[in-house]
Parts: sequence; structure tokens; C-alpha cells
Amino acid sequence: MAQLFPPSVDLAAKFVILGVVTCLVGGAYAFYLLNRSPYWTNVGVTIDQPVQFSHRHHVRDLRLDCRFCHTSVTTSANAGMPDTQTCMTCHSQIWKNAPMLAPVRGSYASNEPLKWNRVNETPGFVYFDHSIHVDKGVGCSSCHGRIDEMPITWKSIDMEMQWCLSCHRHPENALRPLNQVEKMDWVPAKDPEEGEKFYHERNIQKDHLTDCSTCHR
Ligand code: HEC
Ligand code: HEC
Ligand code: HEC
Ligand code: HEC
Ligand code: HEC
Repeated sequence: MAQLFPPSVDLAAKFVILGVVTCLVGGAYAFYLLNRSPYWTNVGVTIDQPVQFSHRHHVRDLRLDCRFCHTSVTTSANAGMPDTQTCMTCHSQIWKNAPMLAPVRGSYASNEPLKWNRVNETPGFVYFDHSIHVDKGVGCSSCHGRIDEMPITWKSIDMEMQWCLSCHRHPENALRPLNQVEKMDWVPAKDPEEGEKFYHERNIQKDHLTDCSTCHR
């Protein structure tokens, strides 16, 4: 075929095409990154709360159990939030005049619960249940990270579908001795057979765990 353009124009056209393609791919990639960036997912981003509650103080330093405040985490879908009474068991005596705790005293006096803003939230069309995970030996830190190091609570993990699925495909890697579900610095046993053992003992069935209807009911 006869050449339409001299070779030099052809080269320029190639550059233009290359430029357009680079912009398209680059743009799509940038969009993807933005979509999964902390700006949208809120991972690692602190959220304003009515009171600056610190897990580092209350969990790491005072060694309070998670269940002392999140009482329904082993029995129901929701972990539950502490009522003001729970805070006042201590704060009617310690730090009882601290300005930081004024909203807690106000809530106690008026009987209006504190309105904590959500840190982790799955969309309404997703079904999640705490109790089954905790009862089968999946620990808090596997999904919430080092809560005990947080002066203000943030989300550690972007809880997207692929994240749920990757564990549901191999739940054995995430199983702990049942008395360690609240242990914050747990690491999987070096011997993979330990997880396998728990997997069989606890009668976990992974075949249905990736079915759409498990999480979308
Ligand atoms: C003294 C009470 C107390 C204890 C003990 C406690 N928490 Fe909390 N937790 C709270 C309060 C209050 C909030 C709401 C304010 C905030 O987000 O920091 C909260 C929020 C959270 C959230 C974020 C909730 C959301 O909106 O997604 C997670 C996750 C959490 N706690 C996990 C834990 C874990 C894990 C432990 C044990 C290692 C623990 N908590 C121990 C009081 C407590
Ligand atoms: C078991 C007792 C106990 C309970 C229950 C408790 N606290 Fe505390 N809290 C303390 C102590 C002790 C301190 C002081 C920590 C320090 O300075 O070493 C403190 C400190 C605080 C402070 C200020 C200091 C800081 O940086 O954390 C806030 C705010 C606070 N608590 C909020 C709460 C809220 C909200 C609740 C209920 C969800 C609560 N506490 C439940 C014992 C408790
Ligand atoms: C398998 C992952 C997983 C484990 C294990 C887990 N959580 Fe959660 N947690 C979540 C998800 C997902 C949400 C958001 C739930 C929603 O939107 O309904 C959440 C939300 C929360 C909340 C906010 C209130 C609520 O119930 O929605 C608290 C508090 C909480 N978790 C505490 C805990 C504690 C304490 C433990 C350990 C005893 C724990 N979680 C173990 C995944 C997990
Ligand atoms: C770190 C591992 C892990 C992660 C992450 C995880 N799961 Fe699970 N999930 C499990 C295990 C283990 C079971 C128990 C399975 C059994 O008993 O057969 C389970 C069970 C469930 C069940 C009950 C299934 C039934 O038998 O009816 C639901 C619903 C569920 N998970 C939803 C979710 C959702 C939604 C997410 C993400 C937001 C998630 N899970 C993240 C490990 C995990
Ligand atoms: C282990 C739990 C789990 C299973 C199994 C699961 N999903 Fe999801 N799905 C989720 C979660 C969690 C989200 C919300 C993700 C987010 O907020 O980023 C989601 C979101 C979605 C969305 C909205 C778009 C998106 O990606 O955010 C669609 C569509 C969807 N799922 C379809 C399916 C289909 C089809 C199946 C079966 C092949 C399936 N899901 C199996 C947990 C699950």
C-alpha cells in the first residue's frame, strides 16, 4: 500500500496515539487509586466523636476487656456500644471534673445517649454477623487492627468484598485458640496445621462461605 504520510508524520501520529492511550490508561488507574484511597474509604482517617475516647488508654493501659463495653460481640450480629452508665462506673469517681468528659456527664444527666459516629460500616445490602466470627475464633484484630494503640479510633482495613472473600476462601489461616480472640498482637501460628486443626474441630464448612447468599440475603 502506498504511504499516506511521509515517515516523519507517521512518527508524530504514533506519539499522539501513544499520548492518548497513556492518558486513558493513566486516568483510569488514577480513578481506581482514588476510589480505593483513604479519601473515599476512610482507612486510617480519624473521625470526629462527641468525646475523644481512647482505646489506647482504656484497653492497653487499663486492660479492659473488649466485651466490657462491646457486650454483645459474642452473642449477636452487632458488637454493641457502651451506654453512658458504663463510662460513669469509673468517671463518676475518676476525672470527674475533666472538661473532656463534659459530654459524658451531660448525657448521664439528661439520659440522652452519646451519638458515636460510625467508623466501620458495610452497606445495607451486606449481611455481617460478629458472633459467628468471634465464636469460631476469628479475632478482633484480624478485622480492626491494633485498636489498643489508637488514641482515637480509625478504620484499619478497607472492608471491601474481595477482602471478605479472601478470608472466606481460606478461613483456616485466620483461626486462633478461642481464648485469644481479643489478643491484639496475635500472629498466625508458624505451623499451618494448627489452623487446619481448629478448622475441623470447629466444624467450619468453607464450600458455602463464598456463595453470594451468605453475605447478600
Ligand atoms: C471502656 C469502653 C471500651 C472498651 C473496653 C473497648 N471499647 Fe471499642 N469503643 C468504645 C467506644 C465508646 C467507641 C465509640 C467511639 C470510637 O469510635 O472510638 C468504640 C468504638 C470501637 C470500634 C469502632 C466502631 C465503629 O463505629 O466501627 C471498634 C472496632 C472497637 N471499638 C473495637 C474494640 C476492641 C477490639 C476492643 C478490645 C480490644 C474495644 N473496642 C474495647 C468503647 C470501648
Ligand atoms: C474501668 C474504668 C473506666 C471506664 C469504664 C471508663 N474509663 Fe475513661 N478513663 C479511665 C481512667 C483511669 C482514665 C485516666 C487515664 C489516664 O490519664 O491515665 C480515663 C480517661 C478518660 C478520658 C480522658 C483521657 C484520655 O485521653 O483518654 C476520656 C475522654 C474518657 N476516659 C472517656 C471514657 C468514656 C467515653 C467511657 C465510656 C465509654 C469511659 N471513659 C469508660 C477509666 C475508665
Ligand atoms: C471478620 C471480621 C470482624 C471481626 C473478627 C470483628 N469485627 Fe467488628 N466489625 C466488622 C465489620 C464488617 C463491622 C461493620 C458492621 C456493619 O456495618 O454492620 C464491624 C463493626 C464493629 C463495631 C461497630 C458496632 C457494630 O456492631 O457494628 C464494633 C464496636 C466492633 N466491630 C467491635 C469488634 C470487637 C470488639 C471484635 C472482637 C471481639 C470484633 N469487632 C471483631 C468486622 C469484624
Ligand atoms: C479473617 C477471616 C474472615 C473475614 C475477613 C471475614 N470472615 Fe466471615 N466468616 C469467617 C469464618 C471463619 C466464618 C465461620 C464459618 C463457619 O462457621 O462455617 C465466617 C462466617 C460468616 C458468615 C456466616 C456464614 C453462615 O454460616 O451462615 C457471614 C454472613 C460472614 N462470615 C460474612 C462476612 C462478611 C460480610 C465479611 C466482610 C465484611 C466477612 N465475613 C469477613 C471468616 C472471615
Ligand atoms: C463474604 C461476603 C460476601 C460474599 C460471599 C459476596 N459478597 Fe458481594 N459484597 C460484600 C461486601 C462486604 C460488599 C460491599 C463492598 C464495599 O463496601 O466496598 C459487597 C458488594 C457487592 C456488590 C456491589 C458492588 C461492589 O463491588 O461493591 C455487588 C454487585 C455484589 N457484592 C455481588 C456479589 C455476588 C454476585 C456474589 C456471589 C458471586 C457476592 N457478592 C458474594 C460481601 C460479599
